[in-house]
Amino acid sequence: MKHFCDIKQLDAHQLNALFELADTISKTPVSETKTWHHGKTAMGLFFENSTRTLMSFQLAAQRLGMDFSALNVAHSSTQKGETLKDTLLTLEAMGVDTFIVRHNENHIQEQMAEWLTSDAKIINAGDGTHQHPTQGLLDLYTIRSHKPNLASLKVSIIGDIKHSRVAGSLIDGLATLGNQNTWIHAPAPCLPESSRAQVAESMEQALTDADVVVMLRIQKERIQHLDTAVLNHWHENFGLNSNNIQWAKSDAIVMHPGPMNRGIEIESAVADGAQSVIWQQVKNGVLMRQAIMHHLLTQDPQGN
Ligand code: CP
Repeated sequence: MKHFCDIKQLDAHQLNALFELADTISKTPVSETKTWHHGKTAMGLFFENSTRTLMSFQLAAQRLGMDFSALNVAHSSTQKGETLKDTLLTLEAMGVDTFIVRHNENHIQEQMAEWLTSDAKIINAGDGTHQHPTQGLLDLYTIRSHKPNLASLKVSIIGDIKHSRVAGSLIDGLATLGNQNTWIHAPAPCLPESSRAQVAESMEQALTDADVVVMLRIQKERIQHLDTAVLNHWHENFGLNSNNIQWAKSDAIVMHPGPMNRGIEIESAVADGAQSVIWQQVKNGVLMRQAIMHHLLTQDPQGN
């Protein structure tokens, strides 16, 4: 694997190997991991906003000993009409080893990988409504840390599934690991045309006996139009609260990729409650991003 654009690039064996690598990194002093890729350079190209992904990639790169910088897109020459390809080739010429790219166009990272002329790597930090593969990795890793037998779990993903690249990567990753009990629940305009997950008709059906509950925000930036009535009643109809969480198993974990819209898709009492692993997801994001960067940088130039 030369670049990481889609979680479907990884089979179950490769996913588990990355989780084991993250376990190893978690037990290795930062003073040691900082020697692993000293002198290499990572660069963030974020054409959409981010807090968690950009900052955790920065910390992950630095904890591997890499230099990290991020292009300030709003003040870059893309605003003067420079094409994405010329921007990439310009930065590649400066000797960047790993580009971490977030963009609103589906599959753009695969195109960017073809434009590169060196052995530089591309990692997808989110493309449109398609994939957010490192979020998928950290979500799976977090579930595994609480409930190791991922294939046997009921996982319910609730919210704006259609426009969520987080859902796309998580559903694909769960399927790769043999899970056939993944459910989605959303109002009709926020359901995808097709999915590998089963569609629940109600919150009760989605939540009953769930081992893992994943709440998603409404991706307003990707929705052309959503009925005001649906929006106004979102929390009532599709929000997780202290009452409906009781349909899930008593040891169910509650997840959210962030950013959260408290009081809409999730009540604060649940987000901050005993079943929430939301901050663990954030912590694991740094580890999993260290793992994927280390993995890519230790491949031979053909990605073997
Ligand atoms: N989960 C996630 O992608 O968050 P950011 O948009 O803050 O990076």
